[in-house]
Amino acid sequence: MYAVEIRGLSKSYKTKKLRTVEALKGLSLDIEQGEVFGFLGPNGAGKSTTIKCLMGLIRPTAGAASILGCDIASPQARRQVGYLPENPAFYDYLSAEEYLRFVGKMFDMSPEDAARRVQEVLNLLELWEPRKRLIRTYSKGMVQRLGLAQVLIHDPEVYILDEPMSGLDPLGRALVKEIILDLKKRRKCVFFSTHITDDVEKVCDRVAVINKGDLLAVDRVENILERGVEGYDVTAASADGQVQELFVHKEELPSFLKQTLDQKLAIEKIEPRRKNMEAFFLELVAR
Ligand SMILES: Nc1ncnc2c1ncn2[C@@H]1O[C@H](COP(=O)(O)OP(=O)(O)O)[C@@H](O)[C@H]1O
Ligand SMILES: [Mg+2]
Repeated sequence: MYAVEIRGLSKSYKTKKLRTVEALKGLSLDIEQGEVFGFLGPNGAGKSTTIKCLMGLIRPTAGAASILGCDIASPQARRQVGYLPENPAFYDYLSAEEYLRFVGKMFDMSPEDAARRVQEVLNLLELWEPRKRLIRTYSKGMVQRLGLAQVLIHDPEVYILDEPMSGLDPLGRALVKEIILDLKKRRKCVFFSTHITDDVEKVCDRVAVINKGDLLAVDRVENILERGVEGYDVTAASADGQVQELFVHKEELPSFLKQTLDQKLAIEKIEPRRKNMEAFFLELVAR
């Protein structure tokens, strides 16, 4: 059973001027349990549309999807999911602590379980100290972290996060990455959208690239990075101690290595020089 299964999902919006916008065109994707999956695309690609369909917030024009085997049209599909909206809005006359207890209650947790879990999660997201302050007084970064706290409360199996790193400073981003990696260790599924290639490179097992409602590519991140290797920066020292640095093309590495043996050069360093995720993404989207 897949954590998330998407089959031919399409969504057209009608604008006020009665124009039709095809925001999503027949998207199909399978996301495994225990997988961190990046949904990468520029602004307007259709990422939030996909996620809102999965969460039952808008209805797809065509196609179907399920979460842990439950059709997205059924409330069961949402019981096992933690969802972070793109622009989370909270009851800002509550404190973080009150709000998170409310979330626990919505997921049928006992008051004791909820209280214990709220404490853990507030600590994890560095919101323990301001927990009694009204959300209204929080900074943007604090609100974003509260959004993540809210996602973690009921310890779901699947996490669907719409741009979880956006609007955070470098410390906040590092914290979110750490949390995602921790979820991965615990074999949870994380499906998150982003337009930042670096986030994908650092935490994802697989990535799907989407643009203008079309799926452009799906692959393992390590495959993309491996294919991107163009050659190697080599530092080698000759017997008399002279150090040279040179670039060796990918195909020439075997013959180069043989040559260094023959010439008794000592290799001090070999570093792959590669196109990164950003180059891959830009090439795909520009095409
Ligand atoms: N409610 C709506 N009405 C009309 N067009 C919309 C609506 N929501 C989104 N769109 C359009 O659908 C496309 C995809 O939007 P969205 O899914 O929000 O993209 P992303 O999250 O990747 O930035 C964009 O062209 C956007 O303008
Ligand atoms: Mg979006």
